[in-house]
Amino acid sequence: MNIVLMGLPGAGKGTQAERIVEDFSVIHISTGDMFRQAMSEKTEVGLNAKSFIDKGELVPDEVTEAVVQERLAKDDVQKNGYMLDGFPRTIAQAEALQTIAKNVNKPIDGVILIDVKPEVLVERLSGRYICSNCGATYHKMFKPTKVEGTCDVCGSHDFYQREDDKPETVKNRLKVNIEMNTPLIDFYSDLGLLYKVDGEQEIDEVYSKVKSILQNL
Ligand code: AP5
Ligand code: MG
Repeated sequence: MNIVLMGLPGAGKGTQAERIVEDFSVIHISTGDMFRQAMSEKTEVGLNAKSFIDKGELVPDEVTEAVVQERLAKDDVQKNGYMLDGFPRTIAQAEALQTIAKNVNKPIDGVILIDVKPEVLVERLSGRYICSNCGATYHKMFKPTKVEGTCDVCGSHDFYQREDDKPETVKNRLKVNIEMNTPLIDFYSDLGLLYKVDGEQEIDEVYSKVKSILQNL
């Protein structure tokens, strides 16, 4: 299975991806996670990406496309397929992905759009916290840990908030991504690949819709 998860910042791409990998054998590839990893390792890609991410801007297409091209060429993707989270975000990236996917012989089976109104997203992002050990994502109100201060997945007591979830950065992230959203939706709709899911329901509800789409791809 080769799929793309689309949605504005905070729509729930990462949250749904965590559920999808429990039921389907597919490799979760989040360009945002890859950039944050590179930033923490202070690699050249990471230092370059940081200057854009900290302002809520998109990392340039050539940089992002190169990262995805390298990742999709790996054996685990060849074996299990890919689930892209947060890529593509521009038409140039979508076009590049058509070529990359063709070259590795893994055409896209479907694009799932998690559809959420922008007004809902600020609250989602400002309440998000993440386990420092395993990366599981929580929300103060909508998805708290079962035991306060303890990660449900790995039991760690260490959590952090993303740097780019600060209110000023969130505003620009939303603006930048909203601008790019409609052309991308049209691109995949024209290819007959787009599946839209209402992302303003509870996490389990959203997942049951996503799961039934994936089972029928
Ligand atoms: P990235 O890390 O991908 O950030 P993003 O797109 O802004 O998306 P988020 O990860 O913030 O949100 P999400 O949709 O995963 O939501 P989540 O599941 O966590 O990218 C970061 C940056 O890297 C970009 O700004 C850009 O600079 C750069 N970058 C990345 N890809 C790039 C590309 N292709 N090109 C150029 N630059 C790129 O959920 C959010 C919160 O809501 C959580 O707390 C969760 O618990 C809660 N929640 C989830 N679902 C629900 C629900 N149904 N109801 C209530 N709460 C919910
Ligand atoms: Mg995410």
